[in-house]
Amino acid sequence: MKNFIKGMRFTPANYSDEVEQQIQKFRKQGMKLPPRHILRTPEQIEGIRASAKINTALLDYLSENIREGMNTAEIDRMVFQFTTDHGAIPAPLNYEGFPKSVCTSINDVVCHGIPSTHEVLNSGDIVNVDVSTILNGYFSDASRMFMIGEVSDEAKRLVQVTKECLEIGVATAQPWTRLGDVGAAIQAHAEKNGYSVVRDLCGHGVGLKFHEEPEVAHFGRKGSGMLIVPGMTFTIEPMINAGTYKVFIDEEDGWTVCTDDGKLSAQWENMLLITETGNEILTY
Ligand code: MF3
Ligand code: CO
Repeated sequence: MKNFIKGMRFTPANYSDEVEQQIQKFRKQGMKLPPRHILRTPEQIEGIRASAKINTALLDYLSENIREGMNTAEIDRMVFQFTTDHGAIPAPLNYEGFPKSVCTSINDVVCHGIPSTHEVLNSGDIVNVDVSTILNGYFSDASRMFMIGEVSDEAKRLVQVTKECLEIGVATAQPWTRLGDVGAAIQAHAEKNGYSVVRDLCGHGVGLKFHEEPEVAHFGRKGSGMLIVPGMTFTIEPMINAGTYKVFIDEEDGWTVCTDDGKLSAQWENMLLITETGNEILTY
């Protein structure tokens, strides 16, 4: 552990000398570096991992219980109950005033949909369920798509391609590459399939807070953006639209993000730990 760099005292580093030496090599090339406090200690990683485990178990539980005819407030109730039964807290609840424990985003809703007793899951709907958990102060975050009843081929294809965008993003997020590489790879796959990538919302660092550095854009240029360094934990959560990438926020509730043209949107989200040899999906 390196406590002194050029005679200045730093708090004990939470990453190895080798990692710091590599970072310094890239610094000399003028690259944007991660603030060191977002490189996790082994202890923090264990805490984040435990939180992510409950978050994943929750998504598995929901996937067995989400049904046609159910309203989204019932999903909210299941999320609250499951999370608190496991000694954890749903991170969305009261987060910047968000009123529920989960985001449920149907069809043209891109993200941040608010569960409601008035909103019923109908055959043909595609719905993103986005869950985030706080366990012992550690945060986790992931989402999946669910297809209700008989879904059109076009909706199925959007859901599938969006899942591939996430997988391609994960495969691209390697240590000592750049966040722009991740965005570029996702964007290329979406656009090749005739879809667009939402620009106004991004993936994000997560672990000690719900949303922290870095910002993970799902579009961009290869070779740009922050250096990806072992010890980082962040989400990749592409929102892919069938039509325009433009979105707007529902003025009435101040949360629900919708596609501008009313066409479908899909999203899948996982949370990654960057390791010295690759990455680990924490939300599997
Ligand atoms: N879970 C979302 C994300 O993936 C954030 C939701 S914020 C909330 O980043 F307040 F709407 F819950
Ligand atoms: Co997220």
